[in-house]
Amino acid sequence: MDQASLYANANALQRRDAEATLRTFIPRMNWHDERETILDVGCGSGDVTRNLLLPLLPSWVSRVVAVDVSPRMVDFAAKNFAHNIIDFRHLDIEKEENPRQKFPEGFSKIFSLYCLHWVRDQPSCLENLFTLLRPSGEALLVFLAANPLFDVYETLSMDPKWQPYMKDVSNFVPVHQHQKDPAALFARAAEDAGFEVLTCQAPEMKFVFDNINYLKNAVKAVNPFISRMPVEEQEEFLAAVMQLLSEGNNNKQETVARYSLMVAHLQRPE
Ligand SMILES: C[S@@+](CC[C@H](N)C(=O)[O-])C[C@H]1O[C@@H](n2cnc3c(N)ncnc32)[C@H](O)[C@@H]1O
Repeated sequence: MDQASLYANANALQRRDAEATLRTFIPRMNWHDERETILDVGCGSGDVTRNLLLPLLPSWVSRVVAVDVSPRMVDFAAKNFAHNIIDFRHLDIEKEENPRQKFPEGFSKIFSLYCLHWVRDQPSCLENLFTLLRPSGEALLVFLAANPLFDVYETLSMDPKWQPYMKDVSNFVPVHQHQKDPAALFARAAEDAGFEVLTCQAPEMKFVFDNINYLKNAVKAVNPFISRMPVEEQEEFLAAVMQLLSEGNNNKQETVARYSLMVAHLQRPE
């Protein structure tokens, strides 16, 4: 996903969850280091970094590095959500070989909001996060554990009409989507990477969009397949997604999104 301006205008659900988890976990973190430097992984369009994360950080934080794998997102964020202590940079948290070369001083805190469900190789990502954290540093990782939207993608990928655009659908289904106990699985992976797990839960969530168009735009903004289709097919595809989503909701409450959210608070031991 790299439709920055669409995402920045259709991310009410993500912003709600980001704000709630930041307000809960930031006060629980140890903020004693005068050299607090912060990393935000998967900053996307940059609005959450600038308008939600930054105002909730202690006033003495002197540097926030916000990274994203998409150069278009990084450019958009730097142009639209610039701030004198935020540095928007390019980084692939999954594939970067030695991230400490890019950021030699490391970070005292890492946040990642609504990003890590895009990551296939979770052990490699966790290893990079661990490497980027200084000893006793803390990470707050919030991402989708499961969402019926991904089941809809899997169903549509078997339809001959959409199959040509969705051959790699499995790359876009979170690794935890079909797991019975995603939190236990992620906690174990975090421990394997060396972290101490302070909290790891995957609560069931619900978000009610004001109207069906808001839900449709939210779905469109994070859809990795639409941009591969000719414009004349895009609306039809989106209608098929919305139809299957509402069937999953028993055709009731068609503006409600239900999903499960991974919330992990980790610490790198001393
Ligand atoms: C849904 S947006 C979330 C943006 C923002 N954090 C928020 O809460 O609104 C997810 C972002 O993660 C980025 N992303 C996906 N895989 C990534 C990776 N391996 N490394 C860094 N960023 C990644 C995407 O490019 C996208 O901009």
